[in-house]
This record gives sequence, C-alpha cells and structure tokens, in this order.
Amino acid sequence: MPEKLKKYVISGGKPLNGEVSLSGGKNAVVGIIPAAVLVKGVCVIENVPAINDVADLVDIMKKMGADVRYLDEKTLRIDSTNVVSYVADYDAVRKLRASYYLIGALLGRFGHARVGLPGGCDFVERPIDYHIKGFEALGAIVDIKHGIVVADAEKLTGTSMNLDFPSVGATVNIMLAAVLAEGLTVIENAGKEPHIVDIANFLNAMGAQIKGAGTDVIKIKGVAELHGGHYEIIPDQIEAGTFMAAAAAAGGRVILRNVIPKHLESISAKIEESGAKVEEFDDYLIVSRDADSPIKNLNIKTLPYPGFPTDMQSQMAALLSRAGGTSIITETIFSHRFKYVDELRRMGAKMTVDGNICVIEGVDKLTGASVRACDLRTGVTLVIAALIAEGITEISDVRYIERGYENIVDKLRSLGADIKVVNDDTPAVTETKIS
Ligand code: UD1
Repeated sequence: MPEKLKKYVISGGKPLNGEVSLSGGKNAVVGIIPAAVLVKGVCVIENVPAINDVADLVDIMKKMGADVRYLDEKTLRIDSTNVVSYVADYDAVRKLRASYYLIGALLGRFGHARVGLPGGCDFVERPIDYHIKGFEALGAIVDIKHGIVVADAEKLTGTSMNLDFPSVGATVNIMLAAVLAEGLTVIENAGKEPHIVDIANFLNAMGAQIKGAGTDVIKIKGVAELHGGHYEIIPDQIEAGTFMAAAAAAGGRVILRNVIPKHLESISAKIEESGAKVEEFDDYLIVSRDADSPIKNLNIKTLPYPGFPTDMQSQMAALLSRAGGTSIITETIFSHRFKYVDELRRMGAKMTVDGNICVIEGVDKLTGASVRACDLRTGVTLVIAALIAEGITEISDVRYIERGYENIVDKLRSLGADIKVVNDDTPAVTETKIS
C-alpha cells in the first residue's frame, strides 16, 4: 500500500521549555550502513536514528543479500558476509542522496558497482564528478549508462589525489573505495566534517587503517580485509543546531542532551550573536532567550567545516526573519540553496535572493499559512517559522522532514510546541485572515 501522505499542523507563539535528547547523526549513519558492505562479519551499530533514510538503506542492503536486523530500537546488526551482488536496487537507490556511498563500498568490496544515480530531496543540482575522478585515480573505469553508475576495476591501487573542493561525499566515497585497495591512498584537500571522521572511525574499528580524518589530509593504508565489531554513531550536529535555532526563535529555555558542543561551535556563535544565550557543558547545551527580548540581525557565510554549515542556513533564516534589522546570508557551498525563501515569504517574511546571497529584512511577525516542505532542511525551517508565527501553519510533504529528523513532532511537543500530524487529505484549517 502506498504510504499515506501527512502534514504537520502547528499553532505558533508558544515558547519552548524543557529538555530533549538528540539522535544519532544522519550524515554519519548514511555512510556507515553502506560502509558495512566492506565488512565480512557482523557490525553492531548503536545510536542509529529512526529516520526514513536509514529505513531505505536497510532495504537496499537486504536486497543485496546482507543480513540486517534491529537488536533494539537504536541498534542495528549488519552482516554483509553473504552479499554477492554488486548491483543496488535502482528504485530504492533513487529515494536517497546518500546511496552514492554504495558505489565506493561495492567497488571496494567487489571491484564492481552498479548503482543508480542518487535521488533524495535535492535543493540544487548535485554532481558526483569528484567521486568519479577519485575512483578513476584508484584504477576504476567509471561510466554512466541509462542513469546507472557503472564502475569496474581489475584492481584498486592506492594513490595521491587532491580534491577540487573539500567535498563531503567525495571524501567519504574515496575512503570507502580505498580501505581495501593495495597500498597507500592520500586524499588532500579532504572534507573535515564530523561525520567524515565518524565514518573513518567506524572503518578503523572494523580494522581499516585510516589516519588524518578531521584534517585536510587523509591517509588510507589498504588492508586485506575488515572484521566485525561494535560502533556507536555520533550525535547529529544539524539536528542539534536545528533545535538550537528553534529555541532561540521561539524563546524559552531548552536543554539539549546527547550533543558534542565542539561540533556546534560555529552554530553556537551565531545563535549567541542573535541574542540568545548558549551554555556549554560536557555532552549537553542549554539555549535560552527571554521571549520578549529582541532577536538581533547578523550575517552568515556558509563554509566547509569548521565554518558555518550550509545545512543550517535555512533554519537561521527562519530565526532572522524576526530580527530587528537586516541580515545577509551568503551561501558558498550550494549557491542556489534558497528554496525555502518563497515558502517563508508566504508567512510574511521579507527576503530577497540575488545569486548566492539572501537578504532578510526582519519583520515584527510571521503569520501562519499553508506551505510545502520541498526538501529536508526547507521542511524543518518551515517548522521553526511556524513555531513563531501568529496562527496556524500547515506544512505538507513532511516525508522530506522525516528523511532526516527522528521523532521531531514528539520532541517538539515535549518542549511545549503545539504541533500535530494529520493526513494530507484533512481539510485545511489554516487561518488566512485577509482584511
Ligand atoms: C554532504 C551532506 C549534505 C551537506 C553537504 C555540505 C551527506 C550525506 N550529505 O552532501 O547534507 O549539505 O555535504 O556540507 O553527508 N560537488 C561537485 N562535484 C562532486 C561533489 C560535490 O561539484 O562530485 C560540489 C557540490 O555541488 C557542492 C560542493 O561540491 O557545491 C560540496 O558538496 P559536497 O560536500 O560533496 O556535498 P554532499 O556530499 O553532496
């Protein structure tokens, strides 16, 4: 039966108070599950978030012959010993962007990979030419035929390469293809994001020899095989940042548990600049703002880690839509990542986009409207806007939000938000006060 479409109905204007425990990292788990293809043995992965991207990857892995089961709600056991196919199911792969990691993993394990070009909720065109260049440097022949990436290598041999850009996906994919290659692979100008480090740590826990993850030079000494083991996924940097932005926007006091404050430094700095208070502890943070105190305008430029993450700019735009003054967001990673602007404008935000720059003039209030979550981060941005808007907001296509946010509705409700999930065909209750 096709999945019933749902929408969120949010009545805005309530501050957020209480505590919330955040989930395992989406961008880490979507690399770690495909990485398990490289392991002939049992990988037990803890702190796995219950998100649609994980469900889709589990489905793809099972179809390839992996034995995948949940030991409990958050612990996944993957045994890829009996995977014999290097072909990933075309329809399943197209559902999510991160299925591109299967190319590196299957190539590493079998010397062959057949993986459909990735799908997911794309906000802009997202090429994979750096990934392909990396596979080719390791000795693979890569072609795209009828929408499928066809990669074959008689043998993968370590080499040095310099990425044109510190791409997260290319760094991880090359690492995956290189762990079982012969000799040393050196990736210069590598990405440094926390999830890249987490995927490298997972591989090392299974016997890989990867050094330098988290710096811009990663060295991978090929090993003959990987063995099974246990691994716990890091907390989700962007989920934490999203709740920080929500708390700063709505006002109140929120304790965020299960976070790594170090990973959040660039986000914390901007949240504080907006006038909210961020208190850092070992593995938790407190974000507070008196709901009556003003939100300050500020400027943001997205950059590779440790700079401000592109995955957080839209949530900050929702916060800044209510700031006292003009804010400027400069997007340097995905230059046209502003799909959320039209939707926020429906809610009364004043924003203009020119190339890779979004200018936000703060307004006194947002008003509830019917809006659409056209991708993951746009979706969650609309949730934040709805929390601070006057009246009721209905957000459709929330399946995009649920690709990457575990139990977002329950988490927000536990903080005092008025949010419910209804079927998409429920008649609109949005208040459109037209005078
Ligand atoms: C990953 C994240 C995504 C995040 C992004 C930037 C995962 C699963 N997804 O996406 O949430 O927004 O990093 O932090 O971790 N590029 C090319 N050719 C390539 C690869 C990338 O031109 O082969 C360009 C992209 O178009 C973009 C830039 O490089 O302009 C960075 O992209 P990249 O870091 O690769 O992002 P993703 O891995 O797709």
